[in-house]
Amino acid sequence: MFTLLTILSIVNAIPYQFYKRATTFTPCDTDSPNDITVTITPDPLIAGEKGTFNIVGTITNGTVNTGSQLVIELKDDADAVIGDPSTFDICASATCPITDLNLTQVIQLPDTLPNTFIIDVNIFDVNGDTLACATSAVPGA
Ligand SMILES: *[C@@H]1O[C@H](CO)[C@@H](O)[C@H](O)[C@H]1NC(C)=O
Ligand SMILES: *[C@@H]1O[C@H](CO)[C@@H](O)[C@H](O)[C@H]1NC(C)=O
Repeated sequence: MFTLLTILSIVNAIPYQFYKRATTFTPCDTDSPNDITVTITPDPLIAGEKGTFNIVGTITNGTVNTGSQLVIELKDDADAVIGDPSTFDICASATCPITDLNLTQVIQLPDTLPNTFIIDVNIFDVNGDTLACATSAVPGA
């Protein structure tokens, strides 16, 4: 009996590490001419609270210039946007053009979030063309 309890407690301790994995972003299926790395805090995001997004990448195909935007949106399983997309003017707080991006933006999360949803992070140039796009399914598959 003692042995069994010991094994059970070890088994219980391991999954916690596995489930507490980071939300991972991959390039969008549609198009992402440049690779970006997106990290979020907290991870996972918490409904009704603020979420901080850090976006790092080198933009060599196309130009981050005045009018370029960062758009963060959450989508449900039916691809419908949850709440409003969060749009930021990248050059408002930086000297453009920028090649080495390192953006930190805070968004307010909706009060309720479905069990599964999609986070899309887009960088658009002044013409609305995609410079970079990263996506994550939450909980990640
Ligand atoms: C830039 O991105 C576009 C769209 O993804 C692609 O068609 C083109 O080949 C890329 N150019 C270079 C130089 O990588
Ligand atoms: C991005 O900027 C933050 C704050 O200045 C810094 O701590 C971090 O190291 C930078 N990341 C990269 C990849 O340069």
